[in-house]
Amino acid sequence: MEKTWWKESVVYQIYPRSFNDSNGDGIGDLNGITEKMDYLKELGIDVIWLSPVYESPNDDNGYDISNYQGIMAEFGTMEDFDRMLAAAHERGIRIVMDLVVNHTSDEHPWFVESRKSKDNPYRDYYIWKEAKDGKVPNNWGSCFGGSAWKYDETTDMYFLHMFSQKQPDLNWENEKVRQAVFDMMDWWCQKGIDGFRMDVISMISKDPAYPDGVLKETGYGDYGPYVYNGPRVHEYLQEMNRKVLSRYDLLTVGECAGVTVEEAKKYANLEGTELNMAFQFEHMDLDGGETFKWNDRKINLVELKATLSKWQNELYGKAWNSLYWCNHDQPRIVSRLGNDSDTYRERSAKMLATCLHMMQGTPYIYQGEELGMTNVPFPALEDFRDIESINAYHEYTESGQLKPDDMMRYLRYKGRDNARTPMQWNDSANAGFSTGTPWIMVNPNYTTINAKEQVEREDSVFHYYQKLIRLRKEYDVIVYGAYTLLLPEDPNLYVYTRELDGEKLLIICNFTDAPRDFSLPEGWSPEKMNCLISNCDRTTAETDMKLMPYEAVVYHMGKA
Ligand code: NOJ
Repeated sequence: MEKTWWKESVVYQIYPRSFNDSNGDGIGDLNGITEKMDYLKELGIDVIWLSPVYESPNDDNGYDISNYQGIMAEFGTMEDFDRMLAAAHERGIRIVMDLVVNHTSDEHPWFVESRKSKDNPYRDYYIWKEAKDGKVPNNWGSCFGGSAWKYDETTDMYFLHMFSQKQPDLNWENEKVRQAVFDMMDWWCQKGIDGFRMDVISMISKDPAYPDGVLKETGYGDYGPYVYNGPRVHEYLQEMNRKVLSRYDLLTVGECAGVTVEEAKKYANLEGTELNMAFQFEHMDLDGGETFKWNDRKINLVELKATLSKWQNELYGKAWNSLYWCNHDQPRIVSRLGNDSDTYRERSAKMLATCLHMMQGTPYIYQGEELGMTNVPFPALEDFRDIESINAYHEYTESGQLKPDDMMRYLRYKGRDNARTPMQWNDSANAGFSTGTPWIMVNPNYTTINAKEQVEREDSVFHYYQKLIRLRKEYDVIVYGAYTLLLPEDPNLYVYTRELDGEKLLIICNFTDAPRDFSLPEGWSPEKMNCLISNCDRTTAETDMKLMPYEAVVYHMGKA
């Protein structure tokens, strides 16, 4: 397998609004990121993925962009951006920008023009349809609730918005749209950025027939088959690759909602004709159900292992995996798959990190994950800021599908705002995030869970992540080795091996709060095994082991 820097990197995602506020307005900003560059260097990450920093009316916290080449005033200026980029590069850290081009804001000048008249030059930049039988053009529901179509009086037609009404979908069929996007990407590349994370890129090509979808409980049709991995998506990405990506040395990752293994082999093919890698959602959707993600179900470990192993094995040698538990759209993993009690929070956070970081692919850490930050005890609906959560609360409770108390419990468990409360830097007011009033509440546990305390303490979650990152740099087998799942039916343990040129790793993770017995598999002898990392002070191996609750340990065997 060809060696490249992006296969060997660890990416750290920053959600700028919540990372660090340098000017006391309660909102994180670019200078705040620059201030923390040494912290990131100390952690050891190679790449920052920056969630959107562009001009935006913030209907969806920056994922609704009104100017792709301007910086949101709350975050600073283009000069601040350039300083941040230079500060990162000085430390050998690369910057990957969020590219949100499935849709723009309705305040983007293209859309302002587009809605003016049917013959406006920008009309065809968006997806406009006539009413069908006096109603919406089809029955698709939007990802943020309600119909995916909005009626516009000026021209008596509907436009498509797969997300909020303020996020109209761009019409990628239009060559001018594609060229405008490619020119804008080129402009950022010329500035010296190091890659793109492409927002819902699997949704840019829609079935041109716009058929009705199968009706769901919400009363809207399922758009999935007509929007995900649409007929021209690979053609568009290949064009983007030819015209922009292949001309620079970039890390590119597509957020691929609805992606299957077969599709991912195209998006992330190792020939490099499209993107470097794709985010898949299957492992994160295992606890979904008839009311979408709104429940408090636990992910079943046997299913989790089967899903992740399928991705590990099927992409191996064909396409590149990206590895994640957390991002700005997911609740905190230690509260979801681990145990956020005082007793087990740190150990289970380390176990989850081990399980993910020893897999094949490029790992992503979401701000605060390296501290074991937890979900947030939001007191009331008013404390949430996320459009998805707020809309979902109304949709599911007003339709009677869910009771208000249950829905509140589900929002606290699954809502995206769990990831969006301020980064916990220290135990001073507002967790050291801001001297002003933060735009969203701070998790009250910042007095005990914070970066300062963890950087100073050798056995912290922070130092554990630091070690995992370092190991990836030292052992090729972590990056390039083949993966094999052991004990697929065991409901408590996640055990797998990695192998490359006679060098082997054995990764053992106890996902439960009880001690568990584990016997070494054939071919592994304690005297030849070297312990690389342990979250329970284990230094040697035994043929028959008694694993502690949430224990994780990694052994190495073979040439050093
Ligand atoms: C996916 C992003 O990760 C999410 O935060 C956003 O709301 C939607 N795409 C729409 O841009």
